[in-house]
Amino acid sequence: MAFNKRIKIKDLIEQGAAQTSATLMGWVRTKRSNKHVSFIALNDGSCIQNYQIVADPNTIPEETLRKINTGACIRALGKVVASQGSGQATELLAEEIQVLGESDAEKYPIQPKKHSMEFLRENAHLRMRTNTFAAIFRVRHNLAFAVHEYFHKKGFFLIHTPIITASDAEGAGETFRVTMLDLKNPPKTDSGQIDFGQDFFERETNLTVSGQLEGELAALALSEIYTFGPTFRAENSNTTRHLAEFWMIEPEMAFYDAEDNQNLAEEFLQYIISFALEHSKEDLEFLDKRAAEEEKAKKAELRSEMGLLERLQFVTENKFVRVSYTEALDILRDSKPNKKKKFTFPITDWGTDLQSEHERYLVEKHFKKPVILFDYPKAIKSFYMRQNEDGKTVAAMDILFPGIGEIVGGSQREERLDLLVDRMKELGISREEMWWYLDTRKFGTTPHAGFGLGFERLVQFVTGMGNIRDVIPFPRTPGNAEF
Ligand code: 4AD
Ligand code: MG
Repeated sequence: MAFNKRIKIKDLIEQGAAQTSATLMGWVRTKRSNKHVSFIALNDGSCIQNYQIVADPNTIPEETLRKINTGACIRALGKVVASQGSGQATELLAEEIQVLGESDAEKYPIQPKKHSMEFLRENAHLRMRTNTFAAIFRVRHNLAFAVHEYFHKKGFFLIHTPIITASDAEGAGETFRVTMLDLKNPPKTDSGQIDFGQDFFERETNLTVSGQLEGELAALALSEIYTFGPTFRAENSNTTRHLAEFWMIEPEMAFYDAEDNQNLAEEFLQYIISFALEHSKEDLEFLDKRAAEEEKAKKAELRSEMGLLERLQFVTENKFVRVSYTEALDILRDSKPNKKKKFTFPITDWGTDLQSEHERYLVEKHFKKPVILFDYPKAIKSFYMRQNEDGKTVAAMDILFPGIGEIVGGSQREERLDLLVDRMKELGISREEMWWYLDTRKFGTTPHAGFGLGFERLVQFVTGMGNIRDVIPFPRTPGNAEF
């Protein structure tokens, strides 16, 4: 018999009592014993529920029972019977139990009690064994799957863009260097600079901040593409919405203008959130209750008006509000918190960048709906965005979500060679190094557009988690690269 002849708890529960005997494998959450019987709560990660195993000391040796502790991994064979208890429809009456991996219950960090999020982050190697984290990562899986399904159905092609690059797509200077040079004794040029010509790639390289530029090359051949890859940003922001390593979904479409881009982003977000609501129902119900508990602990004025599930439904059922940067700035300038000097960054002149406090005011207080902000001042946006007729703004869009702020950033791209070159000159971006990007504007250029969805911010929104570090298995943030 193959070792792995087991049934997953999820499948066993779905089949009801149809199965007469079964083999389960998983990790012990708790064991309750009296003289006559032991009840073991087993979880194998396939679903949120534990499965109850009933072990009779007449059948299961005392020595085995002693090793069945919280955290241990076991294999249990037995009969599926109607449960006498109220917690479950069926349970497994054990005929044989094998302890695959023992656990020192006293030293096991994940005790059957409430742990703080900070403590669980320090124990990220084991936190997926809790209900909360297992639920989050199952939801994360379903969201990732929905991304691929959505684009596949629409005829978009997945493109793998490079992780190591020589460019800084966003021009924010927040790249992580990639080098093989001897840091103690790097080679120098005649002028005393580090000689990257002697490095592995014979030039300066870094980890990518975005797959967009290469995505554009692909869109100008395959029409509609998307990337879904890791991106890296050395921004030193210790916030609940920033990671140094995060995943981004970047569709890029030839023959789309700014409005087509907004339509796609809205439809896409609604599709993947609906998918999660349908396919992660139990996990989201669990997370909904968890979020409600968290809300109770907050001050009344900080509580959100909707529960998690309500909020997700609301986003899938309502049109997003679309307003220009200029209109949004007027709203913010006249807003109560601005007049009462409650914003850390007061709104004054046209042209200032919006901070997350402003974004959240617009979404959570003013519109109470997801907001698509478009036509930003060109000075605060990237070089590749298409310049509008007014000479001041670019065809950018940011999508703002309640509790999150910016979840999507995108734009129509500057397809006109002369305007693109002028903008690169103004910003000091090397045209020599970007020759390949400019080539697409020389040979068969066309209007095109795209956007980037921060995957962890999406998972945060869908799971209701307050901190982005809790929706990626092993977060990378300033000072943290454990695991
Ligand atoms: O707005 P950003 O910087 O846009 C781009 O990178 C474009 N190249 C995208 C495109 O048009 N193809 O980033 C896109 C999204 C943000 O809206 C945010 O959701 C997420 O990526 N993001 C981060 N998520 C977690 N941690 C960080 N440090 C993030 N920086 C951006
Ligand atoms: Mg952005």
